[in-house]
Amino acid sequence: MRRASRVMRLIVARPIGFCFGVQRAVNLAKQARREFSRVWTLGALIHNPEVVAELRREGIRAVNSLRQVRGGALIIRSHGCPPEIMEQARKLGVALIDATCPHVGRVQRVVRDLKSAGYLVIIVGERDHPEVQSLLGYARDAGMVYDSKMKIDAKKLGIVAQTTIPLKAFQAALTDLSQRQFEELRVFNTICQEAASRQAAARKIAREVDVMVVIGGHNSANTSRLADIAREAGKQTHQVENRNELDPGWLVQAQRVGVTAGTSTPSWVVDDVLSALRTSRPGLGDAMAAEEPDRLHVSGVSSVARSALRSGRSKPRKSHK
Ligand code: F3S
Repeated sequence: MRRASRVMRLIVARPIGFCFGVQRAVNLAKQARREFSRVWTLGALIHNPEVVAELRREGIRAVNSLRQVRGGALIIRSHGCPPEIMEQARKLGVALIDATCPHVGRVQRVVRDLKSAGYLVIIVGERDHPEVQSLLGYARDAGMVYDSKMKIDAKKLGIVAQTTIPLKAFQAALTDLSQRQFEELRVFNTICQEAASRQAAARKIAREVDVMVVIGGHNSANTSRLADIAREAGKQTHQVENRNELDPGWLVQAQRVGVTAGTSTPSWVVDDVLSALRTSRPGLGDAMAAEEPDRLHVSGVSSVARSALRSGRSKPRKSHK
């Protein structure tokens, strides 16, 4: 009996293209450029060299220090920045445009309120990521970045997540922290649903394909995370910034090819890569993959904590003697 051959398919994750926060930051920068002859961004506006180069051609320049800003308008990128940098920027006498993603802004407020209420704020995320640096700025002397070996000497713990970390990493940190000594624990699930949906979709698609192509800047942490998720599913995975980095050899044996992209990858780069994939493997039919919300399951934390986490609100309290 003949084995049925699988239909060749290009399975494209949804959502794809810029997330809401990145799109908003790019729009604000372009709008500023129409009003000001000079527009600066503190750090690259987003972690995508193609877009940063396009913005530079349009006269929107990235600087690493406030000292490099010379008049015009200054954009604070979607990751946000520490409050003292905002203060210094206000004194420069330039138009200050805050493009901090509203989701990140919410985490900043949570951190500030926890600090004011006397909590030690633990941020689960990557220490060097600009968003985490901004959150540490709001926590001032009461902030720490989670590390499984960290020593904690506080009665009241407040925990938040970097908006783009994988749910599994947050769950693992909560399981660990819930077993430490403390009198009160408040947990805020501050993971952005946009980022979580992309990670869930990447996990789902990776199970169904032979090869995964992940599109995004090599300096984009959330893009690399999508590639890691696909590799964890045991699939051959390639991260590319643009069509020039594709190798047709990757597709020779592939019947099903999955495609996803980081939140800072513009749609035009995605379309360009998709068109190159179709050219190099004629017969690849398209299939759109539905997005799948990630589910939160936290082991080692009380059921009150779990329900508060699910709703994304504060506030589980747990006493350890
Ligand atoms: Fe904001 Fe979420 Fe994007 S935090 S910048 S909408 S990934």
